[in-house]
Amino acid sequence: NPAIACRLEAARAVVHDAACLAMSMRPPPGGPAGKQKAAQDWLTETDGAVEAFIAERMKALFPDDGFQGEEGGVARAGQLRWVVDPIDGTSNYARGRSRWCVSLGLLDGDDPIAGVIEAPALGEVYTALRGHGAFLNGKRIQASPVTDPASAMIEMGWSNRVPKPVFMEKIDAIMDLGAMPRSGGSGALALADVACGRLDGYIEIVINLWDVAAALPLLAEAGARVSPFLRTGGLTGPATILAANPHIADALSKAVSIPLE
Ligand code: IPD
Repeated sequence: NPAIACRLEAARAVVHDAACLAMSMRPPPGGPAGKQKAAQDWLTETDGAVEAFIAERMKALFPDDGFQGEEGGVARAGQLRWVVDPIDGTSNYARGRSRWCVSLGLLDGDDPIAGVIEAPALGEVYTALRGHGAFLNGKRIQASPVTDPASAMIEMGWSNRVPKPVFMEKIDAIMDLGAMPRSGGSGALALADVACGRLDGYIEIVINLWDVAAALPLLAEAGARVSPFLRTGGLTGPATILAANPHIADALSKAVSIPLE
């Protein structure tokens, strides 16, 4: 569909400019910059500036498309809906760490059809268009070939929305499989890592649409398996996500009791 391909190209350019803006505002290493919204939940000036920048550019290019951002909520409804996380991995960004990204996904109703994730401090850009593959810096990517959960590396995301016992129960289950648990602080980049085979799985019990919208088409195009995030509340509020390579997906899903699509 040329109209959608054209949107992906536009999104890639806008996300790149937004990523440059975020780099120019990047705090130096040190104590957290910005303010704390709640326990371990940070907001920097950059979050608002980048979201406003992307919102304005997308509105000028595609005024009839819907738009939703982490900071501004649903600004416009529409069959086609852009969903932006201006800085995913804000807590990393606020400390001057490198693991954060700008994420912009496109939904057609409840179908994730395209996505761009740029991590400028890592020099990486992920793109996906449904039916046309997923790419990292222009090279096609796919989920990992690891078949043994005991050789797997699985990331688990955490936020203050998840009570400690619930988190610990899933980490326990991951370790009981013999897998290596990890936590990197950016849900979007962790899901992108599953799509390109750097991780074998990612789990987060309570995560929002803006964190996953751009990654969902990447995962689908890279052959990963995913839990039914959008059909279990993720379209309108926070929900659970599990994504994994197709070889360990069933074992992981069973171990942590999170059903797959
Ligand atoms: C957060 C990150 C983190 C995840 C949280 C998200 P933000 O997004 O993706 O890895 O565990 O659930 O809220 O606040 O940095 O955009």
